[in-house]
Amino acid sequence: MPAEDGLRKRKTGSKPEPKHPKQQPTTEPEFDIDGAALLQYLKILWVPLLICFGVFIYFNPAVLSEIANFWIDTDDWYSSPGTSSKSFVGITNDVQKRDAVVQAFKHAWRAYERDCMGADEYHPVSRKGTNLTNAGGIGYTVVDSIDTMLIMGLDEDYARARKWVETKLSFDKNAHFNTFETTIRVLGGLLSAYELSGHDKLYLDRAIDLADRILPAFDTESGLPLPNINLGMRQGVPDPDLPMLVSTAEVSTLQLEFRYLSYLTDEEVYWDKVESVMKIIKKNLLPHGLASIYMHASTGEFVPSAIRLGSRGDSYYEYLLKQFIQTNRTEDVYREMYDNAMTAVHENLISKSPYSRMTYTSELIPERHPNGQLSWRLTPKQDHLVCFFGGSLMLGATITGASSVSQISIPPRQFEFLDHGKRDWKDGVELVKTCVDTHDTMTGLSPEIVHFRIPSDGLTGLFARSGAPADWYIKGASLGEEAPYDARYILRPETVESLFIAFRLTGDVRYRDWGWDIFQAIEKHCKVETGGYASIFNVDEVPSRKEDKMETFLMSETLKYLYLLFSDASVLPLDKYVFNTEAHPFPIFTPNVRKGFS
Ligand SMILES: *[C@@H]1O[C@H](CO)[C@@H](O)[C@H](O)[C@H]1NC(C)=O
Ligand SMILES: *[C@@H]1O[C@H](CO)[C@@H](O)[C@H](O)[C@H]1NC(C)=O
Repeated sequence: MPAEDGLRKRKTGSKPEPKHPKQQPTTEPEFDIDGAALLQYLKILWVPLLICFGVFIYFNPAVLSEIANFWIDTDDWYSSPGTSSKSFVGITNDVQKRDAVVQAFKHAWRAYERDCMGADEYHPVSRKGTNLTNAGGIGYTVVDSIDTMLIMGLDEDYARARKWVETKLSFDKNAHFNTFETTIRVLGGLLSAYELSGHDKLYLDRAIDLADRILPAFDTESGLPLPNINLGMRQGVPDPDLPMLVSTAEVSTLQLEFRYLSYLTDEEVYWDKVESVMKIIKKNLLPHGLASIYMHASTGEFVPSAIRLGSRGDSYYEYLLKQFIQTNRTEDVYREMYDNAMTAVHENLISKSPYSRMTYTSELIPERHPNGQLSWRLTPKQDHLVCFFGGSLMLGATITGASSVSQISIPPRQFEFLDHGKRDWKDGVELVKTCVDTHDTMTGLSPEIVHFRIPSDGLTGLFARSGAPADWYIKGASLGEEAPYDARYILRPETVESLFIAFRLTGDVRYRDWGWDIFQAIEKHCKVETGGYASIFNVDEVPSRKEDKMETFLMSETLKYLYLLFSDASVLPLDKYVFNTEAHPFPIFTPNVRKGFS
């Protein structure tokens, strides 16, 4: 690897200013009391008081540690990145910022509608739409955006989108679609539109039709669904390149959607098919309790492949927690699977960068030795996709890591957590911070993939140039050369998703500030003047070069989470809703008979 490999321009020159300097402590008001009189009283009272206190502690020894925790709480506790209660603002509307996000949504949606209403995907630079297949669109963009319009109160846009679903949407297409993407975007979008429209039956009917067309994907020897589905022929289709393999996150990220549909329709089959996937995973987990990213479609076993929280691994972990949340904490099997997975992640994948001690997640790459032995190599690579995980860990800590069933405070207090809850909360807070720090680029946007420094990486030039130790870099990026794939920003939502959750759980205004910075960077570098937003090729290049693509998750996730970040706590409260991995909210429910499996 050449020495300059990984060099990148830092926005902040040789001595970077911290992007978010710690807030100045404000001075506390001093109370004006008569000190001398108080002292007089204390002199008389302290002996009996001390005796009473001693007796009380003798009978209630736990109180001492509570008191200790209380004080540690205000000091050295991770309620927020700055660990200061000064930045607590309460979860109320920030109308101005929230409305700016609504304007951005309109800028995106109305350009799409103007140029190619009904097409699956939008290309804002050429102002054209394309479909996933030649068979015509399946509402990829329209259905993915509907609940955002409902949440933002865009009634007229919503009415036109609904009309399209009513008159144009058809799944009777003789072509192959990705099972997972179709489920999370289209089925998920229909189900949350059903919920948020006040149970407009149009959406439920369409959802049932789509789900019935997807079900044949599960007809494999193991019961793991095939990666593709022919919606018209109702047939599962293997991946042509990897015919016997299915990816772990894809098979384990259908559950919220099919279970909610089962709850709505009383049809067992939707529930059973996706639950059986979870049984297979539980039975076959690797020795360290982790899951690799590929499984064998007929045996149901994990095959040697990377272990990571990034692509093809990410939402497996997300849905373990969310399945437990979805059924109102009644299925203990998911608590157990989630807690075990988090311990395994903490022990095997959470790493610290050598200079600023940034917390990040590594990947484990399998290596087969000549003697047939398998070993795992730790690789300091973190996808932008992993940035969902900080918020997810924080949310999980308040649920499976809480020391009692009653509601945890906002921000949480240390004594409200069990040990593993404290661990996950701390990891989560730090990971959110790391993801925010990867926005320290020329554009203020974070790259698709970052690598963190490790002693054996052979990079030296980096420090000499920037003057400050760089903890992370974009692999293959070097000045004056074509930007590598890793350097792009494709309008991904994961960091703002975590910021939304972190803000709801802490009320710490810093999370809003960071989200606002990201929003402004999107406005500045991704916005297409004629309408829409585009991905950019290189986060370290200004002015940005745009790629002619607006991913559907901009409207379904990125702008929705930003809107929610600036909304008050009554908008989709986290104790009533669970978001699917495409940011479609479903209500939490208590199942009548089901209790999970063992
Ligand atoms: C995409 O599909 C939609 C809906 O079926 C159709 O109206 C449109 O013409 C298609 N666009 C292209 C470019 O084929
Ligand atoms: C969840 O369970 C709690 C207590 O067990 C109950 O009070 C609450 O109503 C349930 N929520 C829903 C949405 O079923």
